[in-house]
Amino acid sequence: MSKEATLYSPVIKDERGIVSVVFAKDHPGYDDPEYQRHRAGIAEAALRYVPGQPVPDVVYTEEEHATWRLVNAELAEKHRRHACREFLAGKERLALPDDRLPQLGEASAAINEATGFRFSPAAGLVEVRDFYGSLADRRFQATQYIRHFSMPRFSPEPDMIHEVVGHGSHLSAQRLADLYELFGKAVRRLRSKEAVGMVSSVFWFAMEYGLVREDGEIKACGASLLSSCAELERFQEADIRPLDVASMAGQGYLVEQYQPVLFCADSFAHMEEFLSTFLITVSDADPLATT
Ligand SMILES: [Fe+2]
Repeated sequence: MSKEATLYSPVIKDERGIVSVVFAKDHPGYDDPEYQRHRAGIAEAALRYVPGQPVPDVVYTEEEHATWRLVNAELAEKHRRHACREFLAGKERLALPDDRLPQLGEASAAINEATGFRFSPAAGLVEVRDFYGSLADRRFQATQYIRHFSMPRFSPEPDMIHEVVGHGSHLSAQRLADLYELFGKAVRRLRSKEAVGMVSSVFWFAMEYGLVREDGEIKACGASLLSSCAELERFQEADIRPLDVASMAGQGYLVEQYQPVLFCADSFAHMEEFLSTFLITVSDADPLATT
């Protein structure tokens, strides 16, 4: 089980074919049967989804649209101060609506127009080889639910805000989208669990939590940082280190807390070169030999 596995509420299908989502006691939706039914419906449609088909729409509640309006506005203000240029260019190209939660299908059409990537719905956790393998085909598997409205600034699991604002903006920027594809091709080529685990750790510290220097300032580049109002206020307090594969692979990561250690590139071009070199040369025989 990957470290990301602990992030997701498990999706279960019983012997009668009934799909449900299991929430932990501290999940904000634990005591809300209506939210649980809604989440089960979204998970069931994702399980039925066949790649290549149009992404089915979800009927979101008014509370969910309100959550989007609130978080999207807060993030937009923080992006202006803290996001790197490449992310901002992708976000502008993606042009998500401010007044309502967009459908994954419309975000998919926008990223496809920008870079050839598509979104497809994922019920919950996607197995690591399946997730990266689809990136090689320029397909990003994304969750389609949104966090519980009672805690709009907090999500215990990756939701639509993370997927479309964070990854969607990346996948609308050509140079970032090309890096996602390279991650996918590397995993498709590798056989050993150790090498795939290393690629996964580098993805975490670069594409989810990476930082880049711009005109002497440290800016956020990673999708997790850029989809979290709280993380965007705190990332500068982390122990910020230079990019290094061995350190990134050896650094444990905390899925439900602020990351105490983050990695920063000298520029976006440096991040691009560092990741391309690693992903093209990483091998099963000695995954660290490239560093
Ligand atoms: Fe993510």
